[in-house]
Amino acid sequence: MTTVRDTNRRRFLQYLATSPLMASGALSAYGAETPSKLPDPRLWAPPGSGDLIKSPKDAINVFEFEPVAFQNTPPAHFGYMASGLDDEVTLRANREGFQKFQLNPRRLVDVSKVDMSVELFGIKYDSPIFVCPTGGNQFFHPDGEIAVAKAAKVGNHMQMLSTSSNYSVEDVTKARGAPIWFQLYASPRWEVAQALIKRADAAGCPVLAVTVDRVAGRNQETMFRLRRTDTRECSDCHDRSSFAGRSNRRHNYDGIDLSGITGGGESSNLNWDTVKRMRDVTKMKIILKGIVTAEDAELAVQNGMDGILVSNHGGRGEDYGRSTIDALPEIIKAVNGRFPVIVDSGFRRGTDAVKALAMGAQAVGIGRPYLWGLGAFGQEGVERVLELVRTETRAAMQQCGVRSVKELNPSFVRRTA
Ligand code: GLV
Repeated sequence: MTTVRDTNRRRFLQYLATSPLMASGALSAYGAETPSKLPDPRLWAPPGSGDLIKSPKDAINVFEFEPVAFQNTPPAHFGYMASGLDDEVTLRANREGFQKFQLNPRRLVDVSKVDMSVELFGIKYDSPIFVCPTGGNQFFHPDGEIAVAKAAKVGNHMQMLSTSSNYSVEDVTKARGAPIWFQLYASPRWEVAQALIKRADAAGCPVLAVTVDRVAGRNQETMFRLRRTDTRECSDCHDRSSFAGRSNRRHNYDGIDLSGITGGGESSNLNWDTVKRMRDVTKMKIILKGIVTAEDAELAVQNGMDGILVSNHGGRGEDYGRSTIDALPEIIKAVNGRFPVIVDSGFRRGTDAVKALAMGAQAVGIGRPYLWGLGAFGQEGVERVLELVRTETRAAMQQCGVRSVKELNPSFVRRTA
């Protein structure tokens, strides 16, 4: 005889088997892929079960925005954001890396008041969580980077704008209501880099983050596969035949001659002389984005840089790399306080942020989750994503017995594997 219980169980297993989350391997993002012999309480309400959230306030974590964004966003655009490279080992390593570290919470500290503010290059932000640069935010919502800027303003988060944003640095600065940082794709031509730097400088950006981890073409297989399922004609919006054509809706390039730039505009010729030369054309602080080794961190100090962003470009730089949380401790050790180190790639939870801050990072960047929020609900979605990460980070700080970001130190985190 088939009982109600059997039927429910069968339906549940069918649900899991057909869930896009399961099919996309997204459950691994929750750490669900490590096999455990213990009963898993999440069996009764696994991540991704139940209806999709209908409003940002329904979300219990940032992951719940992803399937809604998937539903709302054209497959090619979602694929552009979700994709890593080749086998996507670096992409997964970014999440898996956090499982190697445990927290060492301390007790009996009055944490009824918590100061989450940080100071970066003399500027105070209310949170150690910053908004990473991501290209083409109109892929996810017509308000694109303007919506993101307005959401960042609510929590006074630092926003780092991508060279490849749809809206210009001037428009986004206005929407943020305060100076933003500018991420630079130097391109293979110095004149282009120089024009972009001058533009960011004139817009009032205090910091230039030069991306140093995009020097080759890349094989974004998830994007390519999802693009095959997209029924729209890409060339109706983008002219994919040239870099200039592809950049026609990326307004930071307006008025800049992009002729002669081929492929995706990778900066294959970028070297230490190029970044040092940038000093001559700007008063902005210069940090390098994409450093993942202690050796390069040391070279960044020696070459007079002002800081680094430890990043593997959200798993989009090279495959078979390690997670940034894995690389961070030795980089912090090499830098030894000589300049600020900030970090991104794979951060989703407040505990992720607290681990990195305890190791010595001064701020932690969030990328894809705010695009999930943007694709799902526009500005309100981004606001809620940032709020969730802030709330989790604050709670994790309290549970660790710290009252300010400064009080976090390496004794609060322990490597287990
Ligand atoms: C932009 O930074 C990208 O990775 O596509």
